Amino acid sequence: SWDSSSIIEDQVAKIREEVGDAQVICGLSGGVDSAVAAALVHKAIGDQLTCVFVDHGLLRKGEVEQVKHDFVEATGIKLVTVDASDDFLSALEGVSEPERKRKIIGEKFIRTFEKATRQIVAEAADKGAEIKYLVQGTLYPDVVESGGGDGAANIKSHHNVGGLPDDLQFSLIEPLRTLFKDEVRAVGTELGLPEEMVWRQPFPGPGLAIRIVGEITRERLAVLREADAIAREELSNAGLDRDIWQCPVVLLADVHSVGVQGDERTYGSPIVLRPVSSEDAMTADWSRVPYDVLAKISTRITNECREINRVVLDVTSKPPATIEWE
Ligand code: XMP
Repeated sequence: SWDSSSIIEDQVAKIREEVGDAQVICGLSGGVDSAVAAALVHKAIGDQLTCVFVDHGLLRKGEVEQVKHDFVEATGIKLVTVDASDDFLSALEGVSEPERKRKIIGEKFIRTFEKATRQIVAEAADKGAEIKYLVQGTLYPDVVESGGGDGAANIKSHHNVGGLPDDLQFSLIEPLRTLFKDEVRAVGTELGLPEEMVWRQPFPGPGLAIRIVGEITRERLAVLREADAIAREELSNAGLDRDIWQCPVVLLADVHSVGVQGDERTYGSPIVLRPVSSEDAMTADWSRVPYDVLAKISTRITNECREINRVVLDVTSKPPATIEWE
């Protein structure tokens, strides 16, 4: 649209002017904000940008490929992927407590990103270049929430990046700082990013780790990943994925209930569907998903995921419950 093309032109000019011929780094999460921010910066400065994608092994089905292949193909961005899933999974071994999961993942994430960044900085130095900027996909509501003023400035200087050591501080480029989510999506579409990425619903940084109630294992992740993919597919087939704010799919891994599948008694775990409607995730209501859609999801999950013999619906608003279970 006219709006998004003028936003793009505007930002591209600003980024070029600020960055000159310096080198820039950007972390990708798999989400829409970092992807659009990176694509904008890439449009402005091309191969002066290097993106880093830490694969923590906790993303949903297809999301790693979406970043590594679809996104790279759509943009031509130079991407360094760190496959850190073994590392994350061993650090999480035996951990069930939600806050500990978050802490371990957050810490490991920043250290993994730091290590990859150091390497990129060193490689640039070998070529006589210097990484001076870090791109962040901060949106206008984030700016307001953190009391960051009117969002007029697109480029902030020497802001401390949480968790990175002092010798790895960069100036920040925040090309989405004046935009709302719908504008970010319009810009992403205009830049030709994969539709699934542009329309991706909110997904927590700690990923599927906080959607397995109990310890995280490879097997449990595989089950949850499959159930989640089925729910997403059916919600999207029903045309509901853009109405629903998000639909966490949760594995109650330590709960077992009796079922009967085929001629056999089973003793499997339940999957919880948590579709919510919301404006800003601060409050939420449970979504009234049509029964036939719920029935389809339930039948498919119990048919296609052998370990699951029961599908339940979370009908709690926020408050009192949070959107995620952990
Ligand atoms: P809750 O569960 O607190 O979630 O109602 C509110 C919104 O935030 C998302 N969420 C997170 N996002 N890192 C994130 O980037 C996190 O650790 C995290 N925890 C929750 C959640 O999906 C919902 O959209």
